[in-house]
Amino acid sequence: MAGVFSFFGIMIFTMLLRGYSWHSYIRENICLNRIPKHHGGNNLNEKRLIDLLNYDLSGELQAIIQYLQHSYLIAGVNRPQLHDVLEEISKDEMKHAEELAERIVAMGGKPTIKPRPIIEAKTIKDMLTTDLKGEQLALKDYAARIKQAEQIGEIGTSLIIENILVDEQHHADTFVMLLRQQK
Ligand SMILES: [Fe+2]
Ligand SMILES: [Fe+2]
Repeated sequence: MAGVFSFFGIMIFTMLLRGYSWHSYIRENICLNRIPKHHGGNNLNEKRLIDLLNYDLSGELQAIIQYLQHSYLIAGVNRPQLHDVLEEISKDEMKHAEELAERIVAMGGKPTIKPRPIIEAKTIKDMLTTDLKGEQLALKDYAARIKQAEQIGEIGTSLIIENILVDEQHHADTFVMLLRQQK
């Protein structure tokens, strides 16, 4: 019973916060296969998908630079191991950026050269925590992108993004395990 009340509590709180009506809340949060508005809503077309892929590309460019910078800054006895891990992950992100850019060009778009803001961190724990958050965001975004590409018949794009998502999952798992070693 308490669960039912907390479910409705969260629902009402979200509605008040975002100024939703019952109808739009249910449509956006409960209906299956929903696509959130900030991910293009249901008005998807090829041009909108190119914009979303460029948004993803800017995240990959951020990750390349951020992980490299973290790899340079890491100090202490674990430096060789952590430096190499971060450098390897940065190379994976480079591969992702290339795949997205090639897809964007093939679809008639222009790949962005602007990374999202690089997040600096002072301690190893902060670096790994920041990097893990970036991977978790990428996992969420790519999960949405796979559905969106499928929805407009871009099956190849969807499969390419599926492979990228698998890499991001490995990266997130790596950061989780490295964080366990930190005190
Ligand atoms: Fe990536
Ligand atoms: Fe990643």
